[in-house]
Amino acid sequence: MPTNNATSTSIHTNTKTLSVLVIGATGTAGQATVSALLDAGHNVTCLIRQKPTLAGASPQSANFQLPDTVKIHYGDVTTTSSTIQASFGTNRFDVLVSCLASRTGVKSDAWAIDHQAQSNVLQAARALGIEHMVLLSAICVQKPLLAFQHAKLAFEKEVINSGISYSIVRPTAFFKSLSGQVKRVERGKPYLIFGDGKLTACKPISDSDLGAYMARCVTDSTLHNKILPIGGPGSAITPYQQGEWLFEMTGQTPRFRSVPVVMFNVAATILGFLARINKRFESKAELAKIGRYYATESMLLLDQKTNQYDAESTPSTGTDTLKDFYKALLDGTQTVSQADHAVFDKNQSDQA
Ligand SMILES: NC(=O)c1ccc[n+]([C@@H]2O[C@H](COP(=O)([O-])OP(=O)(O)OC[C@H]3O[C@@H](n4cnc5c(N)ncnc54)[C@H](OP(=O)(O)O)[C@@H]3O)[C@@H](O)[C@H]2O)c1
Repeated sequence: MPTNNATSTSIHTNTKTLSVLVIGATGTAGQATVSALLDAGHNVTCLIRQKPTLAGASPQSANFQLPDTVKIHYGDVTTTSSTIQASFGTNRFDVLVSCLASRTGVKSDAWAIDHQAQSNVLQAARALGIEHMVLLSAICVQKPLLAFQHAKLAFEKEVINSGISYSIVRPTAFFKSLSGQVKRVERGKPYLIFGDGKLTACKPISDSDLGAYMARCVTDSTLHNKILPIGGPGSAITPYQQGEWLFEMTGQTPRFRSVPVVMFNVAATILGFLARINKRFESKAELAKIGRYYATESMLLLDQKTNQYDAESTPSTGTDTLKDFYKALLDGTQTVSQADHAVFDKNQSDQA
C-alpha cells in the first residue's frame, strides 16, 4: 500500500508521484481515470466492493477491469467513516479521487451513494491524510430537478466546506450515453427522437479525455478550488445530428421517428401520483422524471442570468469525437456494454 514518505510528499510541493485513493474505480469514468492516473505516474489504490460472485478470487483476477499496477483494497463505502479508516491501517494518501455514483439514480440509492457513501469516504480519507479531492459530478446539477442531482449537490457543498482543496468536475454527456441507438440503426430501424430531435444539445466527452482531465486535476493547481464544467472537443450536437451521422455511416436514407415529450409528462404525473399512495412506485416515478429531464434539458453550461444553455461558453477538452466513436462501434473495434445505455433502449437515462 502507498504511504507518505520521502518520495511522496504534498500536492502543494509540486511532487509528481502522489498516493491517490480512488473510489468508483470499476465504473466507466473510474476505469479511464485510473488509467490516466497511472499514466501520470501516481501510486493508485482503488477502494472497491467485493462482489459476491467474486469472493475467493484474487483481487486482480476478480477485477479484470483494473490494471495489475493498482492496489485493490476491498471495503464497503456505505459503512462508517471510522470503519473505512481503520481498514487502511497505517496507509496514508495525498489525494482522494471519486468517480463513485449510484448505479440507478433513484432517490434512496442516490442519497446512499452519491451523498452518504462519498461523505463516509471523505471523512475517512481526511483522517488518512488527504489534502485534495477530485470529485466527478455532473453538469446537470446546475439545474437540479432530480433526486440524484440534489444528492450530488449536497456532497459538492460538503467537499467545498471540508477545509481541503478540491476540483469538482462536472462533465457533459459520455459517449456511452449517446450510443444506445447504434445497433437499432444498423439493423435498419428508424432513429428515435424527442420532438424534432433538436430540443437539446451536448458536447460529448470520451472516457479517456475525461480520465485525463480528472488526472490533471490532481496536480494542476489552476484546476484547484474550482467547479469545472467540461465537455469534449468541437461544437455542440443535437440528437438529430447523431441520427444523421449514423445513417450516413451505414449508407442508409435517414429515417426518424418522433416520440412526444408529453409521454414522459404523462408517465411522470401518473407515477408521481401513485408514488404518493404507494412507495412501490417511487423508483418508477423518479425514472420517468429522469427520462423527461434528458429529453428536454441540454448538457451544456447554463447561463444563470438568462436561464439558457450556452454551447459557446461550455469549456472543451480532449480530442476524441463521438463521430469517430460511432465509426469504431460500427466497425467493431469498440464496444459499449448493454448496461451502458441511452434514454431509448432501456427506458431510463444515464446521469449526466
Ligand atoms: N453517463 C453520462 O453521460 C454522465 C455524464 C456526466 C456525468 N456523469 C456522472 O459521472 C459519474 C460516473 O458515471 P459512470 O458512468 O462512470 O458510473 P458507473 O459506470 O455506473 O460506475 C459507478 C461506480 O460507482 C460504484 N458503486 C455504485 N454503487 C456502489 C456501492 N453501493 N458500493 C460500492 N461502489 C458502488 C460502482 O461500483 P461497482 O462496479 O461495484 O458497481 C462503479 O465503480 C456519475 O456521477 C454520473 O452522474 C455521467
